[in-house]
Amino acid sequence: MSADTAPDPADWLQYNRANWDERVPIHADGAFYDVDGFVAGRETVPAFALAEVGSVHGKRLLHSQCHIGTETLGWARHGAAVTGLDFSQPALDTAAELAKRIGVEDARWVAANVYDAVSALHEEQFDIVYTGLGALCWLPDVDRWAQVMAALVKPGGFLYLAEFHPFGNTLARDGITVKYDYFNRSPHVWDEPGTYADFDADTRENVSVQFDHGLGDIINALIRVGLRLEFLNEHEMTMFSRYDVLQERDGFLWLPQGHPRVPLMFSLRASKAG
Ligand SMILES: C[S@@+](CC[C@H](N)C(=O)[O-])C[C@H]1O[C@@H](n2cnc3c(N)ncnc32)[C@H](O)[C@@H]1O
Repeated sequence: MSADTAPDPADWLQYNRANWDERVPIHADGAFYDVDGFVAGRETVPAFALAEVGSVHGKRLLHSQCHIGTETLGWARHGAAVTGLDFSQPALDTAAELAKRIGVEDARWVAANVYDAVSALHEEQFDIVYTGLGALCWLPDVDRWAQVMAALVKPGGFLYLAEFHPFGNTLARDGITVKYDYFNRSPHVWDEPGTYADFDADTRENVSVQFDHGLGDIINALIRVGLRLEFLNEHEMTMFSRYDVLQERDGFLWLPQGHPRVPLMFSLRASKAG
């Protein structure tokens, strides 16, 4: 879908899906997702998520917004029976191919908008519903997201969310100047070529519509749907080079020594009464 006139944020679903569909092969072939490295055994689940989720052995895990399945299949390697859900069919086709390459035969891939996930999954519930980095900014309504997540968790199970910290969205490229409004809740319409995985990639479907959600919005949405917050951890490192000063160490990107530390990611676990 290309924009001949000014894009209407109400068309977020069509714009975002076309944008993601086009970026799938770039991600599948690029260094950022390092698919060959993953096939060779590279760990794709962030270390803090492994520790915070705990053992997934024998658990049924749904990865919501699973993209090309590298993290989903990372959980499968740790013993989970995985289902990946995403609205991009090319992403799921890539994930299915990848599952074959690493010999995971029982992974399931479901194409749906997150907001339709309950019916797309025939009301199935999961021990663990996992959502990884870079997911919530694509969703206009965090309350509806929380309703869907809560419906997908089985009694006694939990939702685990790892996300970029919304405070990070306020910072300019220098990683120190507060440039953007934390409390702005208007949709952002972007028209930008490339992707975070390859800033120079040649792309056509460049319009996307993204949404800011404050930490309070996310927590309150989970409380409103009756999930019990077990922890909320803030992390000083991040996972993509959004500021010019970031330095790589231990598989993460960090602000340099002497730079004021601010939260760049957060993770939480919220459980459903058994
Ligand atoms: C940044 S990626 C997630 C990356 C994932 N954490 C990983 O590293 O593999 C965001 C994903 O959300 C999906 N997505 C965006 N909006 C969606 C929606 N409304 N419903 C379902 N999937 C959506 C995109 O197709 C994309 O695969």
